[in-house]
Amino acid sequence: MPVKKLFTSISLVLSLIGAASGLNNSAVNSNHPVTWDQYSLKINGERQFIFSGEFHYYRLPSPDLWDDIFEKFKALGFNTASIYFYWGYHSAKQGVYDFEGVRDLSKLLETAEKYGINVISRAGPYINAEVSEGGYPGWLTTMKSKARLGNPEYETAWKEWLTEVDRYLVPNQIDKDGSIILNQIENEYAYGRDPSYMKAIADKFREDGMTVPSTFNDPWPGDHFARGEGSVDIYGWDGYPVQFDCRSPDIWPTNASTYYREFHSNVNPTQPMAIYEFQGGAFDPWGGPGYDSCRKLVNEQFAKVFYKNNYAQGATIQNLYMAYGGTSWGESPTSSVYTSYDYGAPISEARLMTPKAYEIKLQATFLRDVKPFLTTTNITAEVDNFAIRVDGLRDVNGATTFYIVQHQVTNTTNSDNFHINLSTVDGEFAIPRKANTQITLNGRDAKILTTSYDFGSQHLLYSTSEIFTHIKQDSRDVILVYAYEGEHGEFAISSGFGDIQAYGVNANVSSSFDDSVLQINYIHPEGSTYVSTASSGDRSEMLLIVSGYNSASRWWAPQSSGGETVLVSGPYLVRSAEIEGTQLALTGDTDVDTDIEIIVSDLVSEVTWNGINVKVTTTQYGTLTGKLPGPEEDVEIPDLGQAVWKYSPASPETANDFNDTNWVPADHKTTSNPWQPMMLPVLYADDYGYHTGSLWFRGKFNATSDITRLRVNATMGPGSAWMAWINGDYLGGMTNHFNEFQLNNTVLRQAEENVISLLLWTTGHQEDFVTDDEYKQPRGFSDVSLLGSNTTEISWKVQGNIGGQEIADTVRGPLNEGGLYGERMGWHLPEYPDESWEDATVPDTIGKSGVSWYRTTFELDFPKNYDVPMGIRFSDTKTERYRALLFINGWQLGKYANDLGPQTLFYLPEGLLNHNGKNSIAVAVIAVDEAVTLGEVTLEPYGKLLSAKPAVGMVESPSYSERVSFLI
Ligand SMILES: *[C@@H]1O[C@H](CO)[C@@H](O)[C@H](O)[C@H]1NC(C)=O
Ligand SMILES: *[C@@H]1O[C@H](CO)[C@@H](O)[C@H](O)[C@H]1NC(C)=O
Ligand SMILES: *[C@@H]1O[C@H](CO)[C@@H](O)[C@H](O)[C@H]1NC(C)=O
Ligand SMILES: *[C@@H]1O[C@H](CO)[C@@H](O)[C@H](O)[C@H]1NC(C)=O
Repeated sequence: MPVKKLFTSISLVLSLIGAASGLNNSAVNSNHPVTWDQYSLKINGERQFIFSGEFHYYRLPSPDLWDDIFEKFKALGFNTASIYFYWGYHSAKQGVYDFEGVRDLSKLLETAEKYGINVISRAGPYINAEVSEGGYPGWLTTMKSKARLGNPEYETAWKEWLTEVDRYLVPNQIDKDGSIILNQIENEYAYGRDPSYMKAIADKFREDGMTVPSTFNDPWPGDHFARGEGSVDIYGWDGYPVQFDCRSPDIWPTNASTYYREFHSNVNPTQPMAIYEFQGGAFDPWGGPGYDSCRKLVNEQFAKVFYKNNYAQGATIQNLYMAYGGTSWGESPTSSVYTSYDYGAPISEARLMTPKAYEIKLQATFLRDVKPFLTTTNITAEVDNFAIRVDGLRDVNGATTFYIVQHQVTNTTNSDNFHINLSTVDGEFAIPRKANTQITLNGRDAKILTTSYDFGSQHLLYSTSEIFTHIKQDSRDVILVYAYEGEHGEFAISSGFGDIQAYGVNANVSSSFDDSVLQINYIHPEGSTYVSTASSGDRSEMLLIVSGYNSASRWWAPQSSGGETVLVSGPYLVRSAEIEGTQLALTGDTDVDTDIEIIVSDLVSEVTWNGINVKVTTTQYGTLTGKLPGPEEDVEIPDLGQAVWKYSPASPETANDFNDTNWVPADHKTTSNPWQPMMLPVLYADDYGYHTGSLWFRGKFNATSDITRLRVNATMGPGSAWMAWINGDYLGGMTNHFNEFQLNNTVLRQAEENVISLLLWTTGHQEDFVTDDEYKQPRGFSDVSLLGSNTTEISWKVQGNIGGQEIADTVRGPLNEGGLYGERMGWHLPEYPDESWEDATVPDTIGKSGVSWYRTTFELDFPKNYDVPMGIRFSDTKTERYRALLFINGWQLGKYANDLGPQTLFYLPEGLLNHNGKNSIAVAVIAVDEAVTLGEVTLEPYGKLLSAKPAVGMVESPSYSERVSFLI
């Protein structure tokens, strides 16, 4: 079929509409660097697809590693990071705030800026985020008023937080040469809404000097705060189409959302379509299947199908939650989740690349470089197979038209072949045109196909392969396209000549030339095929690179600071490319010996990789090839099974003669907590200023002969456990909240003082998603009663983390410690003098009851140019239940539940872990059952890379002798 070269009047009309509606709709200030219209956001006048990834600094407590994350963001094509700011991470006590060390927000925001990453700031005050209290500080749990509503008590509290955090956000906005481009108000606020509260937050930000557009992430397209009181500048929503059941990683919904476009045109048609959280992975609860399953549920196929569906619907602002999940260390996780927050995200908890990261790079680079995508409107489009859905998007300022194809039934695993009926300035015909070829969607796949697109000096009529990107290599245009190996591809450009040359892996390349159109056909190979065309008239030479999917995954398109884009194939990660004169300096990481191929100006004759010269040769088709070394050196990992471990029992609180003089009397007769206790006094630790970790309660009573039972009702979250003793005798340990113990009379001392000791090993507080104050659910006991003919009076004391809200260790902060004896005594800290402790072996062989501490040290000495992310694994198949806390150099980096799991491997971020020096481990074991033995504890690398990761210094934190206080 001949190509009709008709510039139809339709496209002219469309471009006029586009021009007329391209008004600057910024409600902030038209001179502001951030403006927008219905199509997209403009930064300093330039339209950008906001390809954002969620990152939480409080889940990576090693500030030098923020460099590594943001550099990886950049390499993968993320141009923005969405960041929650976690109030409770910075405030141990009302009026007290800390922004130093691992909490240094200036460093955080400046690091983002250093890598050209913009920031969407999300300071709440409420954030949810699977953190304890949904981000609120512990001290807010005793607030009388309801949170997330307009009332004076809550307002005083949240304004205090915003005043503090705004000191860091305001100077880091883009109009002050900083990184923040958008600022979110509240978070997923859909239940029990008070518009005056939303407006008050927005007003407060403005008063403090926030000038960037305000945003809101509706938990679903619910039209909340898109209009009316409390509405924001650029409304958007969240989408988690496969939800969070990682146990069924193959279950997808039958349809991706197809109502976004219509919703947007009804609700906020003058704003770009923004999806402020879209599924990047999933969280996993205590006892869940583990994050490998979540990574399967939200895999690269999910990314292909569901993200492309968002683009088909018209989204030009998309934030993936999470891009890097990290670690909910210490007492930061909310009760339902465990320490790892890997999230099945594209960058794993140990900062490693995953197949989804490579898929994201393919999409984000296309969206970065193919600009007509930023100003499209939907058009009708057709395919010749009912199993396929096609969305047509045409640039309102030009002729470029995109066809996004996916299966009508989103979860199908069928392979479907089809043709698209093109209707573009280049004519109306079905593609592919070659007989017996077709476009294929094999299983869970979707494609963005580009037509009528000018790149460099070329005019692309269409490509049935997806575009990764295109660059100019001197006068030559280079374009890289890809599809799954074995699929047909057809690529047509305007040309004066029909000559082509093919090189590289055999892809059965053929071509035809008719009416000034050069049509190239091929089969996507394992690897890459190179097809070059001749120049003719205004059109220069072109190099078409046809890659199979796996090969495309390893192509990178780094941009130099001078704005040149270089194409690099092969490495695990390419971090940066700089061209100076005849030299190209690349940095990155390799996982194995790697063949590298580079497409860059002919002026470049010398290539370095991480500062070392790479011998390169020029191929027939004008690329450079060479070899990069992989990590070859052996990295020595100490065997902790051979280490000298020290052991101490650590539950003296159970003994009658334990001196609890300094403990806080638990004698409150009232509480404002919505969970009213079943008996008095109030045994809620929060009411006495203890909000984190393990809690001890000691109750004294005079025994009478009629006492027969002890009834206990704990208030706690999933994963928690509690144990009870009377006069030092173990009564039992529970992982459910209720029990009644029969009291054998030999336990009680008649007419004498008796002591009940209760240890509650807590997980974090709940969140407040539905605005019902659930975050206040106390940690403690709602009922502890001695039952007989009468109820016996008990006089109580409580102990939690040392100092309560007056934390002893301000460096590790308010979420590092709980109330175990060893934590209060500083046994978790480096250099604690444990010489007098007994020697022990780990795995232990002797059953231990109550709480036991184990300590040892080990040294690491990794080569400087290696990245060897390390973890500690607990291996234990025994059924006696226990809980354990893992401390590395004093930092609590793991909560282990041997009977519940699923987490057994705990990530130790470099900077807290010393990769070139001595490290101290402490493990506290809390026996739930009567006697337990700690299982195997081993050091385990997650991977080994030869790496250009920025240097990581140790986070300065106090050792035992430097800590302020050790009151018991
Ligand atoms: C474009 O999308 C809107 C909203 O869904 C719809 O009403 C309209 O019919 C679409 N236009 C075309 C040409 O498909
Ligand atoms: C798709 O979802 C439907 C409805 O839940 C289910 O019956 C079908 O088996 C699913 N198909 C696949 C391939 O998972
Ligand atoms: C108990 O501790 C308090 C406070 O440290 C101390 O004053 C008191 O002497 C101690 N009592 C005994 C019996 O050791
Ligand atoms: C137990 O009895 C003694 C002596 O009568 C009394 O001083 C003490 O207060 C009683 N303790 C409790 C907890 O009732």
